[in-house]
Formats: sequence, C-alpha cells, structure tokens
Amino acid sequence: MEKKHILIGVTGGIAAYKACDLVSTLSKNKNYEIKVMMTKHATEFVSPMSFEALSHNKVETSLFSETNEDPIAHISLASWADICVLVPATANIIAKVVNGIADDMVSTTFLACHTKKMICPAMNTHMYENPVTQQNLQKAIDLGYVIVDPAYGHLACNVDGKGKLAAVKDIVFAIDKELSDPFLKGKNVLISAGPTQEALDPVRFISNHSSGKQGYSIARQAYLAGANVTIVSGPVNQEPIEGVTIVPATSAQSMFEAIKERLEETDYIIMAAAVADYRPEIVADQKIKKHDNTLDVHFVKNPDILAYIGQKKRPNQIVCGFAMETQDLDKNAKEKLEKKNCDMLIANNLFVEGAGFKTDTNVVTLIRKNSLEHLPKLTKIELGLKILKTMKEIEEEVVSC
Ligand SMILES: Cc1cc2nc3c(=O)[nH]c(=O)nc-3n(C[C@H](O)[C@H](O)[C@H](O)COP(=O)(O)O)c2cc1C
Repeated sequence: MEKKHILIGVTGGIAAYKACDLVSTLSKNKNYEIKVMMTKHATEFVSPMSFEALSHNKVETSLFSETNEDPIAHISLASWADICVLVPATANIIAKVVNGIADDMVSTTFLACHTKKMICPAMNTHMYENPVTQQNLQKAIDLGYVIVDPAYGHLACNVDGKGKLAAVKDIVFAIDKELSDPFLKGKNVLISAGPTQEALDPVRFISNHSSGKQGYSIARQAYLAGANVTIVSGPVNQEPIEGVTIVPATSAQSMFEAIKERLEETDYIIMAAAVADYRPEIVADQKIKKHDNTLDVHFVKNPDILAYIGQKKRPNQIVCGFAMETQDLDKNAKEKLEKKNCDMLIANNLFVEGAGFKTDTNVVTLIRKNSLEHLPKLTKIELGLKILKTMKEIEEEVVSC
C-alpha cells in the first residue's frame, strides 16, 4: 500500500512541544510518511532538530534559506501532501490562512496546498474567544478546513477555559479519519465486544478475561471506513470511540436481546464478544452465605447468539464469528464456521504468544468457507481492518453470484 503523506505545520505556541508527540505517534504508523515545516516563532519553542529526528525528514523553516535543497520547497511540499495539518495553530496563523496571507514557509505552503487541510487551534482562552478568532475559525470551516476543537483545561497562562490543544490521540483519530478509504460508507456494522457477566447473587458473577480490545479495534476501523457502527458491549474498560454507538449489555441474555433488536438493519455482523456458554440456573436474591465446605451451582445453557444469527441471516448479510481454542484450532474452528453458518471465522489460540485477551496484538487464522489463512502477528487495529476488508470481499462475491 502506498504511504499517505502528512505535512505538519508547527506554529509559535506553548503547545508546540505536543506536536513532537504527535509526529512521533504518526511516524510509527507504517502507512504514513511525515514531513514538518515550522514558523520562525515555532522554533523559539522547539528545535527543528527534534522534528527531523522524529519524522526522519528535513524540516523546512524558511522560504528563502540558502541551505534549502529545493528553492521552491513550499510548492514541492504542498504537492507532496495528502493532508496539511497546522498543529498547534496560533491565532496568528489561523488569521493568516483564512485571508490568503502567504508571508512565511507555513502560510505560503498552506495556501499552495490543494488537498485536505486541518487546523488544531491552541491559545489563551481570551484569544480563542475573541470574536475575531471565532470569525476566522468560522471562515476556516466555510472554506472546508477540518477544525479539531481545543479542549477545556488549565492553560499555561494560568487561566481555566477553552484553548488547550486537543489530545494527541484525538488529533491522530481526526487525521486517520481524513485519510481512510471510506470502503464501508453507508454500511451498518454491528459488533459485539467484551465479556459477559452471569450473576450468582447480588454481589458475585461468573465471567471471563475478555477486555473488549479486539471488538473496539474493529469498531474504530469500521467507523474510519465510513460505516455506521454499533457495539453491543459487555462490561469493559475501553474508551468510547467518537461516532460509534455503544449499547451496554451485561449478561449473555441481555447481549442476545440487544443484538436481536438490531439484526434486521445490519449489513455486517462481527461477534467478537466472549459470551458465557452457561449461566447459574438460580440467581440468589441475597448474598450467598459461607456455610458448607462446598457450594453446588447448577448451570443452564445460554442462547447461542452466533447460531441464531447464522439461522436468520439474509444472503447479503455478512457474518463473522470468533473462536478461541486451546487445542485443534483449525479443525474446531472450521467445524464452528459450518455449524454456525458464518461467512468467516477468526480463530486464535490462547496459548500462542501475542494472541488472546488484553494484548494489543493477535495471532489468528482467518477461515472462510473455502479457504484458511494463517495470518502473521498483527495489532488488533490492523486485524480489524483486515477483517472488514475480507467481509467486503465476501459481500462483493455474494453480490456478483
Ligand atoms: C511564551 C509565549 C507563548 C505563546 N503561546 C501562544 C499560544 O499558545 N497560542 C497562540 O496563538 N499564540 C501564542 N503566543 C503568541 C504567538 O507566539 C505570536 O502571536 C506569534 O506571532 C505567532 O507566530 P506564528 O503564528 O508565525 O508562529 C505565545 C507567545 C509567547 C511569547
């Protein structure tokens, strides 16, 4: 895949140091290449050398520097970029770029860019709330630039209010959104994630180690690909994802009800939750007391959500199940795919290093009706994208049949 080119314009605000973290984070994404340009005032806050080291590219600071390898670097940079992001954006640069002023490297390159443009303002609250700045930001929106709103907080100037640079993770998310291929635009995607909890009494439950990380990673990628995404989520500690609807469900039964309600309107269904197979038949009204040496609990079977979906699914609904095994992975997973009438199954072995619960990575086998693919170790985010792209392929095959 060809790398996307991100041009970062750093300007003279306190938050310039946070742009280092942003460039460092973006540089770790192997699908991106980063270049940085800075205003003269920005170099008062952070040395260009920091950005050169983090981006592995030369940093441009002046239109007319004698050391410029390229005498018209502003035009070359502008044509190179897939997106130009001003971060932090001072009140000054915002005022300049919405009025077509081009009097330094950053403002001139921004004007020459005919691609996506993003502004991440950061400044003192009074500067931010000043009607002139607000008018300039409105003008930026009208010009089609994406604004990543600053946050509320305690600012370096000792004022509490709006003006703090948005969190780096939110800026990364906004950039990812702009640069993503919208291959799921308009699709409704339903994902189950996390564990279920099966109550024994008002204070205790039986559950499992699922963290929800894989399901939430798929949801993030589906949203970035333009889908309308809903997660039916067991109890997890995952951060909510901007733009994704989260429906909480605690037990297998409540997860089943939440999924059933949404099945009809869904195009892609991904069952990544670790749903308990059994639940205690009787949930005690009061806390179970410690009397005897042993405690007998009688379990009954929970609804098989994946099997239900497999029975009900329309030909153009694409269903992906998950299977975690500790032995005979491929054989057991292939049987599950057929038994549950899924289009695709993601199987992993809990005992393989880098796979399973809570990790940021996964090592899986991707099983389709006529194929079986052992994937290398991937981050859960990378695997999320692979799953969605494969579902899209399956859908296209179904449609062309
Ligand atoms: C210590 C210090 C911190 C500053 N922080 C900010 C800031 O966070 N946001 C802002 O808009 N301006 C800030 N300024 C003012 C800008 O540096 C000033 O407007 C400058 O002309 C901006 O130049 P540039 O936009 O070309 O980088 C600060 C100035 C100083 C001296």
